[in-house]
Amino acid sequence: MAGILSRAVINDPVLRAAYTHCRSSVRQRDAVEYSIMQLMPPVLRPACWAMWAAFSAADDIADATQGPRTARAARLDAWTAALERELAAGSSADPVRHALIDTVRRWRLDVAELQLSFATLKEDARGRRLETWREWSARVGDSNFSWASQSMTLLARAGVPVPMWLRRKDAYQRYLDGLYLTDTLTDLSQDLARGDISLPAEVLDHFPQATDHLRERRWSPAVSDLVTHLTEQAHRWLDQPDLTGALHPGPAEMLRTATRLFHARLDAVQEAGPVLLSRPVLPTRRIRWQILAPARARAALAWRLAPLSPPPHRSGPAYPAPRQARSPLLVQPPPAHPSGARPPTIPADHMPRHVAVIMDGNGRWATSRNLPRHQGHRVGADSAVRDVIYGAAEIGLNYLTLYAFSTENWKRDTQEITYLFENVRDQLRSDIFTNDSYGIRLRWAGRNEGLPEDLVEELLKAESTTRHRTGLTVTLCFNYGGRAELTQAAAQLARAATAGDLHPDHLSEDDLASHLLLPDTPDVDLIWRTGGERRISNFLLWQSAYAELHFTEKYWPDVDRRDLWHTISDYAQRERRYGTAPPPTSSPDRLTTQDSVQ
Ligand code: IPE
Ligand code: IPE
Ligand code: MG
Repeated sequence: MAGILSRAVINDPVLRAAYTHCRSSVRQRDAVEYSIMQLMPPVLRPACWAMWAAFSAADDIADATQGPRTARAARLDAWTAALERELAAGSSADPVRHALIDTVRRWRLDVAELQLSFATLKEDARGRRLETWREWSARVGDSNFSWASQSMTLLARAGVPVPMWLRRKDAYQRYLDGLYLTDTLTDLSQDLARGDISLPAEVLDHFPQATDHLRERRWSPAVSDLVTHLTEQAHRWLDQPDLTGALHPGPAEMLRTATRLFHARLDAVQEAGPVLLSRPVLPTRRIRWQILAPARARAALAWRLAPLSPPPHRSGPAYPAPRQARSPLLVQPPPAHPSGARPPTIPADHMPRHVAVIMDGNGRWATSRNLPRHQGHRVGADSAVRDVIYGAAEIGLNYLTLYAFSTENWKRDTQEITYLFENVRDQLRSDIFTNDSYGIRLRWAGRNEGLPEDLVEELLKAESTTRHRTGLTVTLCFNYGGRAELTQAAAQLARAATAGDLHPDHLSEDDLASHLLLPDTPDVDLIWRTGGERRISNFLLWQSAYAELHFTEKYWPDVDRRDLWHTISDYAQRERRYGTAPPPTSSPDRLTTQDSVQ
């Protein structure tokens, strides 16, 4: 255990105690899930314990047997509000939240997604009756997807991206349904103790009297038939074909083992009979061990093949070097370039993870053709932006950030500004973001001030509808300024210090980074500016501290994905040092000096 915390680079004694607390609570509360987490690589296990312990803590508040529903909902509100405050401050006196905050910052997890799953729990605490399997399944999706997707993010951050194939979306959903139905059956007695039956009316109505008998805790033929029906259903849902196809052997082994364990849980439910109504049932230790012992050996072997990275913060560059040239998170290739050009093969460890683009030269492009400036913006958006996004997805880039409108661009005339806004609106509505199968996620970095309200709404809506996508992340820097971003981060830190949540002497770079607009986005590896100017123009000042720079003479509307690929190929030749001395063999000067000494 101490060894695992050290391997995960968790050295602070308070944090170690917090993670240890999470581990014990997960182990005690959910033995089967705990054993599945033990199949994760050691460096990721503490994060898994923290996330699970946090979800469980919130779930336990929502499901508490004591007190009225409104009081439970209020307690959960207080718990999540405390988490929100403490996330900003960076620490908590509550060990579970303290470990979770560290996990979120260490692995830059998506806070919005965590909050979404807590919000679902709140609805449960308030009591929500589910009529149909469809509603039930949507609820399962909302509350469980977050856990699954955060675990996938962890793996991706550690160098093992886990692809989600859209064509298998239904199969994933059914599988999650199977896991959740198994849980519901195993813990039936706890639901009954609270007076809840978390099954949809649709199925209960098929077994007349079963609901009444369940409430009376009476094991009748109706209840027995209902349990048999649900157990068979859960077995079928768990048996989704081809879920592990194309997965790295590590996650594939975890998925197979989880499936076996959950089938064993269902067998235990079926064998339990009346006992099911009085206590939670689990497969025997012997059965669990028979499944887990060989799985552990296979998982250990599988992870040895994986290029795992240590947690990204504390030392060196903010993010581990990218491990995959072609991101398998890409769900379906976007349309190819009309010339038939294909992306170059970039060695995995030379591929940038995050490319940020200053798309400049629209106005000059138009003027040189005797066209009004807005025509340049139009072609830049319709042709260059679209093609570069496709090219980024095709080459397997993880993060592409586009500078679309700066806080300084308000100095332009109103008509030009209006055109620029209309272009963004059109882009949000285009297939880049509306076609689910490209898996492209949109994020927006910028301020609301000055923007039309309906455009802000469209941006937020596009962020929300694309948030689960697992391919390329496109960040639109729109009404964005680097100094404005740093100033608002400073204001938040000052507020935390005034409230006594942060001591100025202990302020770290991570603290500041976690208050930026998109704290879970990795640092910029490469800034690319078109249009011939050689300046940064207030773009991503913090995030590009160690970025490589690339300048292209072409005006932006003349650019296409081949220019992006050329830029990435050039980046791949560069040596990044982060302040270190160059390795001896690559320095001709030093060889010369040594030669002359001899
Ligand atoms: C970049 O092109 C687009 C935005 C700044 C919004 P410009 O409009 O700056 O084009 P030039 O630099 O005037 O040619
Ligand atoms: C930078 O381009 C901003 C965007 C591309 C959105 P500008 O054209 O506004 O930059 P300056 O004014 O030449 O520095
Ligand atoms: Mg310009």
